[in-house]
Amino acid sequence: MKGIILAGGKATRLRPLTAITSKQLLPVYNKPMIFYPIETLIKAGITEILIIIAPDYSGHFLNLLGDGKEFGAHFSYAVQKEPKGLADAFIIGDEFIGDDDVTMILGDNIFDQDFSNEIKNFKGGAMVFAKQVPDPERFGVVEFDKDMKAVSIEEKPVNPKSNYAVVGLYTYDNRVVEYAKNLAPSVRGEIEVTDLNNIYLKNGELKVNVFNTLWEDAGTFDSLLRVANLMAEKTNSQK
Ligand code: G1P
Repeated sequence: MKGIILAGGKATRLRPLTAITSKQLLPVYNKPMIFYPIETLIKAGITEILIIIAPDYSGHFLNLLGDGKEFGAHFSYAVQKEPKGLADAFIIGDEFIGDDDVTMILGDNIFDQDFSNEIKNFKGGAMVFAKQVPDPERFGVVEFDKDMKAVSIEEKPVNPKSNYAVVGLYTYDNRVVEYAKNLAPSVRGEIEVTDLNNIYLKNGELKVNVFNTLWEDAGTFDSLLRVANLMAEKTNSQK
């Protein structure tokens, strides 16, 4: 299982914080944001990791993270020139992924969860995770039937069919690379991870795991502050 951290984008929503640095280098309490997705992958047993970054400030990522040895991992880097969508990570990562399965985590998604069992038991198809949130319209939203079987996934729906957000940790078999190459851009001009998930859903090959521990997409001022406070509480309660 290979790992990809997607840490591209321009993070215009966080300006002026992101005027002279990258979102994923901003502090979340006592560490740069990107440490969290790195630690989530490593905890899940994934140590061969491609970090996809925007051209601006790319040297800062290299200075900060190096080859990954200090984390007990191996990092490679790729540059995403334009933010073309989350599914673009599998096109950029084509060679890196090779013949393997792949787990992608978004560089601004912060978890406090051990995913190693789910990843170890992954047997093909696609696997995503969903959590109930108060603001599902910000996310990919999964609708379940009465047996909690996923029936639809919509990207940022105006009228969400549930309050289950699909979070930014996705595991796919090797076919994802070909699927990504054949996607058409959405109305926001991006190739969407939600469209990939819908391909697997239609084939009956998408597993959705509901979980209930801490998760934040730290891409807004409020969520960034919230998750920093949560991490401070957690760290101080462990002292
Ligand atoms: C992306 C995905 C969305 C997912 C979210 C999780 O949104 O498109 O489906 O729920 O990440 O953080 P974006 O960060 O592009 O707004």
